[in-house]
Amino acid sequence: MVQVRFLGHAAFEIVGSKKILVDPFLTGNPQATARAEDFREIDLILVTHAHGDHIGDTVEIAKRTGAKIVAMFDVANYLVENNKGITTVGMNYGPTEVDGVRIIQVPAWHSSSDGKYSIGNASGYIVKLDGKTIYHAGDTFVFGDMALFNELYGPIDVALLPIGGHFTMGPKEAAKAVELLKPRKVIPMHYGSWPPIVQDPEEFRRLVGDKAEVHVLKPGEVLEL
Ligand code: NI
Ligand code: MN
Repeated sequence: MVQVRFLGHAAFEIVGSKKILVDPFLTGNPQATARAEDFREIDLILVTHAHGDHIGDTVEIAKRTGAKIVAMFDVANYLVENNKGITTVGMNYGPTEVDGVRIIQVPAWHSSSDGKYSIGNASGYIVKLDGKTIYHAGDTFVFGDMALFNELYGPIDVALLPIGGHFTMGPKEAAKAVELLKPRKVIPMHYGSWPPIVQDPEEFRRLVGDKAEVHVLKPGEVLEL
């Protein structure tokens, strides 16, 4: 069994034979119910892009737990240059394997920067762990190539999709993404954290209809696969 725990905003913990964090933004995250220091054993931390609400507590958790940070090559170099005592796996769009976990870094239509200067490109991840396939879209708009993610790496057991609008897809675009990805289950994310991205996840559920099971998780809640 693989457990997917929503930590608020775009942060998730994926627990199976390995413990994986994606975009662990906890300190300063208005939705977070967990703190960075709550995570004591983590194997991998996947970072989708360099924005602060995604790198978040990555460095602190990696230093304390020894977790390897997986990120786009340029983002990994940026983290190593600015921090001592971390181990990174810099990659780019494509498949790899890290500590027995199959990871496919996929494109995302978004920027990636320290807030001013570009650092690599934005990405999402498809993670294959213990026979389950999890897609974390990162911050992105919908795009037709999402159909390839299903074709090449599907079936997707759960897709974690932003619905906040303003910086990413809103409910309408995310519902189109569900059509392309054909996941069994979907968890909406990246909404409600701040005023510009307030959305009603029930509108997303209505737009998805019977195309996938929509699981609206509160921070701290777990979906079991
Ligand atoms: Ni972003
Ligand atoms: Mn973001």
